[in-house]
Amino acid sequence: CGIVGYIGHRDAYPVIMKGLQRLEYRGYDSAGIALYDGNEINLSKTKGKVADLHKKSQSTISLKGSLGLGHTRWATHGEPNDVNSHPHYSNSGNLVMIHNGIIENYDAIKKELLKRGYTFSSDTDTEVLVNLIEEIKNKENVKLGQAVQIALNEVVGAYAIAVFDKQKPDEIVVAKLGSPLAIGLGEGEFFIASDASPFIEYTNNAIYLEDMEMAIIRLGKEIKLRKIKDDAVAYPSIQELKLNLEEIEKGGFEHFMLKEIYEQPRAILDTYRGRLLAKQGIIKMAGVDENLEKLLNANRIIIVACGTSWHAGLVAEYIFEDLARIPVEVEYASEFRYRNPVITDKDVLIAISQSGETADTLAAIKLAKEKGAFVFGVCNVVGSSIARETDAGAYTHAGPEIGVASTKAFTTQITVLTLIALKLAKEKGVFTTTRFHEYLTELEQIPAKVEKALESNALVEIIAEVYKDSTNCLYLGRGYNFPVALEGALKLKEISYIHAEGYPAAEMKHGPIALIDEHMPVVVIATNKGHYEKVVSNIQEIKSRKGKIIAVVTQGDQQVKELADHVIEIPETLESLTPLLTTIPLQLLSYHIAVMRGCNVDQPRNLAKSVTVE
Ligand code: G6P
Repeated sequence: CGIVGYIGHRDAYPVIMKGLQRLEYRGYDSAGIALYDGNEINLSKTKGKVADLHKKSQSTISLKGSLGLGHTRWATHGEPNDVNSHPHYSNSGNLVMIHNGIIENYDAIKKELLKRGYTFSSDTDTEVLVNLIEEIKNKENVKLGQAVQIALNEVVGAYAIAVFDKQKPDEIVVAKLGSPLAIGLGEGEFFIASDASPFIEYTNNAIYLEDMEMAIIRLGKEIKLRKIKDDAVAYPSIQELKLNLEEIEKGGFEHFMLKEIYEQPRAILDTYRGRLLAKQGIIKMAGVDENLEKLLNANRIIIVACGTSWHAGLVAEYIFEDLARIPVEVEYASEFRYRNPVITDKDVLIAISQSGETADTLAAIKLAKEKGAFVFGVCNVVGSSIARETDAGAYTHAGPEIGVASTKAFTTQITVLTLIALKLAKEKGVFTTTRFHEYLTELEQIPAKVEKALESNALVEIIAEVYKDSTNCLYLGRGYNFPVALEGALKLKEISYIHAEGYPAAEMKHGPIALIDEHMPVVVIATNKGHYEKVVSNIQEIKSRKGKIIAVVTQGDQQVKELADHVIEIPETLESLTPLLTTIPLQLLSYHIAVMRGCNVDQPRNLAKSVTVE
C-alpha cells in the first residue's frame, strides 16, 4: 500500500492525489482520502485506482482543507471494495487513520473491542487499530501521540501509519515498523509518504523513520521523534533528497515500462560508472573493497530474493560459480526464512531487492545476521530498509523504477553482481589479468549492445501481433539463459495474464513437451555460446511436434534461422554477459502483447511493486 499525508498551508487535496498517483506502484486495488475542512472530516474512498477516486471525490465531497491523509491499497485483510478502503474512522468519528502493513493479532483485539461496545464497518485490521487507539486515548486520558504509542505496544505485525484527531487539527501522528515512512519538511508544512516521490517538488529535506519509531508532527513546532517501545526521545537525521521529478515521469513514452526498458543502456552505464575502470584494469566498489577478506573467505554465498530479483540471483549463481569459483545457493527469501536453514558465520548472504523493502527478504537478512553471517545488499532504492539493515552493499543506480514489472532493475542487478564476481575472481587469482581485461572491456560495450538489442523492437511488435491471443507460452534456455527464460515467462504472466512457464531447455522433455502442439508458442534462447548445439536439438524436438518457435539468436546465426518461425538477433558477447542482451527482446515481447491485449501494463492486476507484507 502507499500512504500520503499533508499538513500545512496549501490545499491538501491536489498534493495528496498527485502523491497517491506516484505511489500507485505500491498497490492499486482501492484508494481513499480524508480531508479536514476546518469543521468536519470529509472522507471519500472507492474500489479501483486513484483516478477513480478523483472522479468520485469531485462530485461527492468538499475538497477544501489543508490537512489530509490518502491511501492507495494492496488488499491483505478484506476484499478490495469501498468499505475496506482506507482511511478509516474511529467509532467517535474523531480519529482518522491510514495504514500500510498487517496487524497480525487484530482478531483478538477486535474481539475485546467488540465486547466493549465498539462496532466495525469494515473487515480491516486498520479499523481495529484506530479504535484501539481511540479507546486508549479516552480510557487513559492521554494525548493522541501517547495513545498511539501504547496501542502499538499491544499489536503484533508491521505498519506505517498516520492518524489525526479532528479535535486537534494541527497535528498528525505517524509511526513505523516494517513498512517505510518518510516525512518531507517544508516551510511551515509537512508531507508524509511511503517514499519521497510524492513531495519531491515541494522539498528536498526528508526524515526517514526507523523501525519502532514514531513522530508527532505539529504545525509551527519541531518534529518530535519517539521510540515506540519506551517513549524515549529519538533524534531525527534530516536527509537531502537526490531524486528529480523528471526521473519519475514518463518522458514521452506511453508507459513507464517501455521508458524503463529503453533506459537500460544508460542504467547499466550508471551502474558501472566510477566502478569499472577498464583502462587501469580495476574494479572499485567501496562495499566490496572494505569487506574483501570476508567475501574471499566465504565458505559459500547464499543469495536471497523474491520475484525478478530472485531471477537475477539465479544468473548470479552461474556467474559466481563459473567465474569466481565460489559455491552459491539461491533461495526464495520467503522459504529461506521459515525453513530453519543451516547458516554459519562463514557464510555470506547476498540479498537482492529493487525496492529494498520486500518484507520476506528483510526477514531473511535478519535471520542470517542473527546466525552471524555477513550480509551484503544489492538494492536500487537508496536509503531503503534493506540497504540500511545489511552490513555492506552496492547500489544498482538504475534510477526509480515505476512500472510494476521489473526491467532495468533486473539488468542492473546482474551488472552489479557481475562486477562483484569479477572482482573476487581477480582477487582470488582465478582470473588471469588478460581474462580480467577481456571482461572489463566487454562490459564497457554492453550499453551499446543493449541499444542494438532494442532495435529489435519493431520486429518484436510484429511477432507479438501473431501470438497475442495465445493462452499459453513456454520459455526455454540453458545455462546462463535458463534464468532469463524464467524471467521472460514471469514478465508475460505478470502483465498480459497469459500463462507462461520458463524451463531449462533440456528439462522440457520431462514434462512440458506434452503441452506442445501447433498452438503453443515456444520462446527459445539460442545464442551461439553455451550449449548452442544442444539447444538446436531442443528446437528440433519442438518443431517435430509442430510448436511455434520464436528464437533469440546471435547476430549472423544460420542454423536456428532455418528451423525457427521467428528469429530475433542480438549482438555477440561473452557467454556470461548474454543475459543482459537476451532479456531485452523478451521484455519487449511481453510489453507489446500486453498492450495489444488492452492490459494495464504499468499496473497489472493484483500485483504491487513493493511488497512490504509477507
Ligand atoms: C514484487 C514485484 C516484482 C519484484 C518483487 C521483488 O513482486 O512486483 O517486480 O521482483 O516484488 O521485489 P524487490 O523490490 O525485492 O526486488
